[in-house]
Amino acid sequence: MSPLPVVLRTGETADARRIHALIAANLEEGHLLPRTLGEITVHASRFVVATRGRRIVGCAELAPLSPQVAEVRSLAVDRSERGHGVGTTIVDELRRRAERDGFAGLCAFTHSPAYFTHMGFSIVPHGWIMEKVHTDCVRCPLFRHCGQYAMVVPLDGAARAAARASSGQVHAAAPCA
Ligand SMILES: CC(C)(COP(=O)(O)OP(=O)(O)OC[C@H]1O[C@@H](n2cnc3c(N)ncnc32)[C@H](O)[C@@H]1OP(=O)(O)O)[C@@H](O)C(=O)NCCC(=O)NCCS
Repeated sequence: MSPLPVVLRTGETADARRIHALIAANLEEGHLLPRTLGEITVHASRFVVATRGRRIVGCAELAPLSPQVAEVRSLAVDRSERGHGVGTTIVDELRRRAERDGFAGLCAFTHSPAYFTHMGFSIVPHGWIMEKVHTDCVRCPLFRHCGQYAMVVPLDGAARAAARASSGQVHAAAPCA
């Protein structure tokens, strides 16, 4: 019998406990921001989850920092499923969704810049993503000493959002950073 395939889908409230457990299991290794079950429950639909059968084997959140910039947050893949492209597929899907939603850039804060450069992200000064600095960094005990790299990939969505704005649908998105 062939193994069940890995399938991506949008997170649901009912997934919150399993997403929370996956993030918690990778907190230290990934230097991930601790997340409460409550906030994951509230924002479950921002997550893309990778499932194999009934198991959630990977996840990440598309977190809007501003109308222009969204962040890849809480990216984690179960140890047993690593090295087969699950993480890359999740980030690609977040990128597609961010583009669809008209964001000008997708950013990530990470100790593993090589992982993100391989997906087209570039290292930028933290000050280029002031949305993140104002939202999270200033409240963090490791502010200015976290050792994380700020990384950004520009998105084509900006052009599409500007076109929609000029037709009166939404505000135009400014270029990232
Ligand atoms: C990082 C993580 C999400 C990668 O998941 P994955 O499904 O194994 O990733 P992929 O299979 O898509 O990896 C694709 C490539 O990235 C490489 N890679 C994986 N982790 C890497 C890392 N930390 N640094 C650099 N490269 C890495 C892989 O070797 C692979 O390279 P290849 O295509 O040349 O073979 C997973 O290792 C994980 O959950 N780690 C713990 C949590 C974490 O670090 N999260 C990211 C914080 S920003």
